[in-house]
Amino acid sequence: MNAGITALGTYVPEQVVTNFDLEQRLDTTDEWVQTRTGIKQRHFAAEGEFCSTLAIRAVENLQARYGENVLNGVDMVIVATATPDAMFPATASLVQAHFGLKAGAFDLLAACPGWLYAVSVAQAYVKSGTCKKVLAIGAETLSRVINWEDRSTAVLFGDGAGAAIIEPVQEGYGFKSFVLGSDGTGADHLHMKAFADCLPSGAKLSNKLYMNGREVFKFAVRVMDTASLEAIEKAGLQTEDISLFVPHQANARIIESARERLKLPLERVVLTVQDYGNNSAASVPLALQRALDEGRVQDGDNLLFVAFGAGLAWAACVLTWGGKQ
Ligand code: COA
Repeated sequence: MNAGITALGTYVPEQVVTNFDLEQRLDTTDEWVQTRTGIKQRHFAAEGEFCSTLAIRAVENLQARYGENVLNGVDMVIVATATPDAMFPATASLVQAHFGLKAGAFDLLAACPGWLYAVSVAQAYVKSGTCKKVLAIGAETLSRVINWEDRSTAVLFGDGAGAAIIEPVQEGYGFKSFVLGSDGTGADHLHMKAFADCLPSGAKLSNKLYMNGREVFKFAVRVMDTASLEAIEKAGLQTEDISLFVPHQANARIIESARERLKLPLERVVLTVQDYGNNSAASVPLALQRALDEGRVQDGDNLLFVAFGAGLAWAACVLTWGGKQ
């Protein structure tokens, strides 16, 4: 049996924060942020909007696009997030309750590649017969964990959510390969506190996001390329067979470097970082939604997804779009 994505919905909060807005708050400039990252603006959740709120809005968007019945038969909800409402209950349980689903629910923590990890679990559940229809959501409220004392990270992140249905699809369609990796020796480069004061290395943890930008940049450039090539090979395809590259939207320079190494033409790359910044686990579904809305995805197209982040961890995947039964 093959499993694939049959529906997608997304949400970004109304409040837009431009680089010019950040100039009022930080010692930075629109020119610096755009040149180094490609980001022009990001969306921040309003007071009273939480990770669960964003996830629920993304699912409502899914219903608006595909009809109320799109949730019929969902028997598992997974929310990938690094910024949940609470350590427990799982944000996924709040989503499950909101829609009155007769389903299991859990959160998955794999930072920026989190949604691809959630999707990999979802398709394994479907293929094994453990579940029939899985709602895999990536949702983040990163604006709540920005360290405003650190201008090099404060300009990067935004809030948003994306929700996908994963279920059986026709022969020849669906997920072709997954590459999932982690190198925890890089834990010191990107972290945030939970219940310990420091990491095993002794690195002190803070309540706000900490990142060593240069180290993460080097790691990202390397892994975007190697994980992508591995996923293409595992799928039994060549780079030329990839119709659309849907990468994690952290930095336009990192995406451009991967595009060059993969020798993909510009028109085969989705770029949304200018509008959303880095939405962590919500970044890839938001980029995919943009491509779908722009009519850039046809049935039978091979899509390549790749993401990287805290862990340090990464995920890549090849999916043949379409084939809804
Ligand atoms: N505005 C203006 N100047 C800034 C600034 C800002 N927001 N942030 C840093 N600077 C300054 C620094 O102080 C430094 O000044 P100096 O040369 O006088 O010391 C200079 O810009 C260069 O800083 P540096 O940190 O070396 O910049 P960079 O080119 O490495 O860019 C990042 C910083 C964060 C944009 C870049 O490292 C990056 O994108 N890393 C990867 C991050 C990422 O993808 N994370 C995703 C995790 S999933």
